[in-house]
Amino acid sequence: MESGSSFKDGHGGNVWRLARESGNSWQTVLDFSANINPLGFPAGLKETILNYLPTITHYPDPECQALREKLAQLHRIGLENIIVGNGSTELLHLLPRALKLQQGLIIEPAFSEYEKGLRYNGTRPHFLELSEADGFQLDLAEFEEKLNGMEIVFLANPSNPTGQVWERSVLEDLLLLCYHNGAFLLVDEAFIDFLDQPERVSLTPLLNQWDNLLVLRSFTKFYAIPGLRLGYLVGNRRIIRRMRERQEPWSVNLLAQVVGQELLVDQDDFIQRSRILIKEERAFLAAELGRLDSIKIYPSQANFLLLRLTQNDLNATTLAQELVQRKLLIRDCSNFRGLNNFYFRIAVRTRPENEVLIAALKEILT
Ligand SMILES: Cc1ncc(COP(=O)(O)O)c(C=O)c1O
Repeated sequence: MESGSSFKDGHGGNVWRLARESGNSWQTVLDFSANINPLGFPAGLKETILNYLPTITHYPDPECQALREKLAQLHRIGLENIIVGNGSTELLHLLPRALKLQQGLIIEPAFSEYEKGLRYNGTRPHFLELSEADGFQLDLAEFEEKLNGMEIVFLANPSNPTGQVWERSVLEDLLLLCYHNGAFLLVDEAFIDFLDQPERVSLTPLLNQWDNLLVLRSFTKFYAIPGLRLGYLVGNRRIIRRMRERQEPWSVNLLAQVVGQELLVDQDDFIQRSRILIKEERAFLAAELGRLDSIKIYPSQANFLLLRLTQNDLNATTLAQELVQRKLLIRDCSNFRGLNNFYFRIAVRTRPENEVLIAALKEILT
């Protein structure tokens, strides 16, 4: 890539564009901008895909029945409480459209598709920006104030991009406030499987208890299949029915459906190995990068770290450009609401990969 060329993307993970613009093959790019499990997908998936390849001469099951049955068992909920999507992003766009929502609140900084899903479907987005000065913590009174007139609230647990975890008791407080205001709470658990003990904070066990709770899940990150596209939303059957009625037919492809089913059984070893790796490597990255005076690192329990450049002579956009020259992608966070162009995010990857990034950052920043 020519120096000075401006590689920038609304999301992380666009290795294709970097490859195209730099004239290199995408395999040579080390991607720290998308937060995907560095172990790759579980070994058995290749065989599953090959076995099912001949069946792509058929349309996929538009009901995603077999996968929904497995998800119903897993979460101990009814089939009618589950909708599967072509990635969880499809569902973020379908929801406001299907429900004809007028007003929605987003706890920021956050994944930008919450806002786009609302905006592009005629819903007015409102924002509650958590600030660094408050440690990105939520003030309940401010939340309650903002809730007035809202039909839905979006937040992610763990949060992207901060990596912070919302404790279940706090989320229950939010659920109660939402309930009294006639609002739904959508908790996006796209990264929850990377936590040491996701069962401690996931809200899926509360689904039978709260009618205004929606939980969004993705197979993309933890099972490293962003290219296949698979996610789901669980919650209130009336909402799910309206979404399913308005979902485009066959949006979840056949291979994604069978892979999803396989991922719901016997993955204990993969799950444990992934969690151990992420914990160790997150600590390693934080310790090594913590030696640099010009970086502040925010505490994260997820498979990524939010960082801020503390000296004014270099911003994250320029840093990202410099790293692109070395075929390294990081996520410049300047387009997150509530952050600015001194923030960036890096995924936790394997030791040799992390060492490459650390060396490059040390060279640029010292
Ligand atoms: C917080 C969060 N939720 C959801 C998604 C969407 O994931 P997918 O559409 O691949 O399921 C992302 C992707 O970056 C994300 O960061």
